[in-house]
Amino acid sequence: MAFKVVLALAVVVCVAVASDLDTGMWVAHCARNATVDGVPAAGVPSHSPAFVTRLVKNFTLPLGLAVVHASIINPNFYGVPDVEIKANQTSKDSDAVAKFEYDLYWPKFVVDGQFKSEIKGVIHSHHEGNWTLLFEHVHWTGQLHFHKEKHHIDKLKIHWTNKNLEAHVTGAGAQGDAVALMLETGLKTAFVTGAASLGVESVLGYRLNDVWLKNATKVEALLDWCRHGH
Ligand SMILES: *[C@@H]1O[C@H](CO)[C@@H](O)[C@H](O)[C@H]1NC(C)=O
Ligand SMILES: *[C@@H]1O[C@H](CO)[C@@H](O)[C@H](O)[C@H]1NC(C)=O
Ligand SMILES: *[C@@H]1O[C@H](CO)[C@@H](O)[C@H](O)[C@H]1NC(C)=O
Ligand SMILES: *[C@@H]1O[C@H](CO)[C@@H](O)[C@H](O)[C@H]1NC(C)=O
Ligand SMILES: *[C@@H]1O[C@H](CO)[C@@H](O)[C@H](O)[C@H]1NC(C)=O
Repeated sequence: MAFKVVLALAVVVCVAVASDLDTGMWVAHCARNATVDGVPAAGVPSHSPAFVTRLVKNFTLPLGLAVVHASIINPNFYGVPDVEIKANQTSKDSDAVAKFEYDLYWPKFVVDGQFKSEIKGVIHSHHEGNWTLLFEHVHWTGQLHFHKEKHHIDKLKIHWTNKNLEAHVTGAGAQGDAVALMLETGLKTAFVTGAASLGVESVLGYRLNDVWLKNATKVEALLDWCRHGH
């Protein structure tokens, strides 16, 4: 299976000596193009927005004399396809592991989702509502190591930075202002300084390795779609 996919990649690039970087960039652009409208044959839904079901984050923070427990669930990411991709190769083409340093840039990026919160204090209350985060000038930089024989991503590091970030929360209830402020701060922290703890690396790593790279049919359907135009 791994061999079949590597063969498909070799055919894709259509030149005898494509560097790992050329192949990697072609595949990255192919994947980006696929996210615009989706590729049903490869089981790719449209990523406008992308819906991330495995991403859950719980907060527990003090609020005066009470404690607030809040969960943010299943966020939607808007603007995923509007990415600019840059990368350098830090390995030799003859190495078994292709190593890249990458920089993904989005001019604008919106994430929204729901939350549930529970305030435990003198008065006990539950709330549910929505949140939106507006990011500007987002960079994801880091390293990606791809084992060419095992056909597996050995390492994926994502460092998330952005210039501006606004958070809006609705539905936080009667004690709304304080809870909304707490959630807005928590969301900003989770999505920026705590991007690693939010599990973006592990969610993406799982998607790429377990959903994609283990399924040659899926990979070939995607590459086919990019090769033959659309
Ligand atoms: C991605 O889409 C752009 C614009 O339509 C096109 O020029 C490019 O060849 C596509 N790349 C791949 C790898 O599919
Ligand atoms: C592999 O991908 C194809 C196309 O998306 C899908 O129909 C099939 O169920 C997948 N197989 C596994 C084992 O996930
Ligand atoms: C978050 O909290 C909910 C409700 O208390 C719980 O069911 C879930 O397992 C928690 N998730 C994580 C990732 O801690
Ligand atoms: C790639 O290398 C060039 C030259 O050293 C550097 O300017 C650029 O920032 C690097 N890009 C990435 C994505 O690491
Ligand atoms: C949350 O969003 C849903 C769907 O857009 C909407 O129906 C609901 O009224 C919103 N709730 C709050 C508290 O803003």
